[in-house]
Amino acid sequence: MKTRITELFGIEHPIIQGGMHYVGFAELAAAVSNAGGLGIITALTQKTPADLASEIARCREMTDKPFGVNLTFLPAMMAPDYPAYIRAIIDGGVTIVETAGRNPQAYLPVLKEAGIKVIHKCTSVRHSLKAQSIGCDAVSVDGFECGGHPGEDDIPNMILLPRAADELSIPFVASGGMADARSLVAALAMGADGMNMGTRFIATQEAPVHENVKQAIVAASELDTRLIMRPLRNTERVMHNSAVEKLLQKERDLGAKLQFTDIIPEVVGIYPRVMQNGEMDAGAWSCGMVAGLIRDIPTCKELIDRIMREAHALIHEKLASL
Ligand SMILES: Cc1cc2nc3c(=O)[nH]c(=O)nc-3n(C[C@H](O)[C@H](O)[C@H](O)COP(=O)(O)O)c2cc1C
Repeated sequence: MKTRITELFGIEHPIIQGGMHYVGFAELAAAVSNAGGLGIITALTQKTPADLASEIARCREMTDKPFGVNLTFLPAMMAPDYPAYIRAIIDGGVTIVETAGRNPQAYLPVLKEAGIKVIHKCTSVRHSLKAQSIGCDAVSVDGFECGGHPGEDDIPNMILLPRAADELSIPFVASGGMADARSLVAALAMGADGMNMGTRFIATQEAPVHENVKQAIVAASELDTRLIMRPLRNTERVMHNSAVEKLLQKERDLGAKLQFTDIIPEVVGIYPRVMQNGEMDAGAWSCGMVAGLIRDIPTCKELIDRIMREAHALIHEKLASL
């Protein structure tokens, strides 16, 4: 399948694996890219820019296909050394960067000068238009369904994607709630040029996370996520568990007085404990509503081949015969 996204990134299928903290290691990125999609390493999971450089080198040993690096701009009290991370990306010969979190404008000139294609992930039409106006090559439009940070507008993809299609001239992918061929065909019908998946790629053979995480996603229904940190305007969709329940109780008890420091035990330092040790109640970890559509743990190649085969059948048989 050829779309503006496959052309832009030089990939076979219009399927991207979004950056994921403590999931987006070289193993997963290489597996997705080898299967014809676009795999993405998560920069900030690497503790230093030198670690990111090694991770990029490791990925290159596992694939000769294009892969990208996610650069998340955090509302961090102590901002990471972004220029040094970007230097590692450029020196590592990476040609695609997924930015997220905040406006990437300050770093675009250095990325563009190095010939890097930038896809910015955003949760609204106005932020997508801003990304287009500052020179991003593409956007990833993340609907309210998404795992991670859906923003504060709460617009689901059924509305957000056609709205984005009406306004944008650069290519975009649908993100949030995407799991299978139905997602891809619907996304294309609504004007997207492909899709980005997060949660679905965690439940794959190659995702380098604890088996408990994969089983929790397979066992979860679409009712099992919660929104946290809304009072801090840093909303995150996470898997429901006992720590999340505790956090939500604090939000109810403290109301407008809630501060980030009140919820540190539930949100800081959680990812390695969940993703590597399999401590499923350690704290809050991002997960999309799409868990309700995930019932197996295929290889990335099985998953992507199945999506493309079934999408072809949907378009050329089911829809064509209506
Ligand atoms: C466990 C997990 C960690 C994530 N970490 C990041 C991150 O560090 N940076 C980022 O830009 N997006 C992050 N995301 C968001 C994904 O890249 C993607 O946009 C989102 O998962 C799409 O929604 P879906 O889960 O419904 O497919 C994360 C998502 C999950 C599930």
